[in-house]
Amino acid sequence: MPLNRRGLGAALAALTATAAKAQTPDPAIIKPQDWATSLGDGVVTNPYGIPSKYESAVIRRDVAWLTAAKQSSVSFTPLHALEGTITPNGLCFERHHGGIADIDPAQHRLMIHGMVEKPLVLTLQDLKRLPRINRVYFLECAANSGMEWRGAQLNGCQYTHGMLHNVEYTGVKLSTVLEAAGIRPGAKWLMAEGADAASLNRSIPLPKALDDCMLAFAMNGEALRPEQGYPLRLVVPGWQGNMWVKWLRRLKLDDAPWMSREETSKYTDLLPDGRSRRFTWVMDAKSVITSPSPQAPLAGRGRTIISGLAWSGRGAITRVDISLDGGRNWQAARLDGTTSKLALARFYAETDWTGQELLLQSRAHDDTGYTQPTKDALRKIRGVNSIYHNNGIQTWLVRPTGEVENVEVS
Ligand code: MTE
Repeated sequence: MPLNRRGLGAALAALTATAAKAQTPDPAIIKPQDWATSLGDGVVTNPYGIPSKYESAVIRRDVAWLTAAKQSSVSFTPLHALEGTITPNGLCFERHHGGIADIDPAQHRLMIHGMVEKPLVLTLQDLKRLPRINRVYFLECAANSGMEWRGAQLNGCQYTHGMLHNVEYTGVKLSTVLEAAGIRPGAKWLMAEGADAASLNRSIPLPKALDDCMLAFAMNGEALRPEQGYPLRLVVPGWQGNMWVKWLRRLKLDDAPWMSREETSKYTDLLPDGRSRRFTWVMDAKSVITSPSPQAPLAGRGRTIISGLAWSGRGAITRVDISLDGGRNWQAARLDGTTSKLALARFYAETDWTGQELLLQSRAHDDTGYTQPTKDALRKIRGVNSIYHNNGIQTWLVRPTGEVENVEVS
């Protein structure tokens, strides 16, 4: 069954077919509905707007067996239920090592010290006087898809790929603040530390810090959410989520990395021969079909939109291929909108589903020439010891009933 791009004519024909099936006369069109015959709620019923009650299933979820304690756990973005590329603030996945810090912004301070000419302590107001920028970036946890290294396990792209969000950040360039403090000759590394109970900290090479890192105080137009690091977080575009320190309180410059917990016992990738890949910061190109997927089964035969997300920590997505037969044949999907660097891209393919079994896959390409690998190709080199950096191709089995299951093909 070819992916079908016959355009508007075919889409309209499909619509006509669906409409003809509707009950005639259709009560939904000939009877006055309750909502049209009495007044609705007034303004400010919800001073801070909330989604329609009919969308109550679109929520973050955790996985019981991954949650020993809520304060050191993860919730997942419902990717299967989202459109476009921007993740709504209330649906961004959360990953905390020591719970959500409850910080009074008036009491929050950012200290910059170590190998600098002039150590600084800044308030949020100080930061808000500096030149501002707005940038859209994806954040992916290094352990996204980590449970799938040994085989298909979690039945839903919320769980297999939902440690991912894509947000417009507002803040200041990290370089602006570091240059204000004056970088001393010989400084090569920056340590960023959070004010939470975990004091999560990571060492970042200075060239990256000065290139595109940001100190963000707002996301998608409003203050950061507490879960995302209110009142200040570090943004490290394209690099693994644990570098994006939330509740940021300290930046220290030095000539060597700190080799703290998050870069020794955690976030190093153990290879089959016992050696470790360390400082695996960049998130390689990856993609996933979000619909259909196990939590978003096909409602019926006929015109079907296949849709998904692609991203690369090395640049921009240039192409996404889709396979309906487990990777034997590939066709280019349609990338919609602008595909900006280090941000999510949305892809679509339209097809006429006649009810046969499908093995759906997507494969991302980025502007460095990199192509997303199969899981088998990854395992051949990396083995199965690590839970980090699984960017292998995902397969969804679509059954004739329209139900979808997480499977692997080899
Ligand atoms: N920063 C602090 N201070 N404490 C944390 O526990 N978790 C890190 C990172 N920054 C963490 C932190 C990890 S492991 C990830 S994947 C991202 O935040 C998750 O960001 P999010 O909660 O906005 O999704």
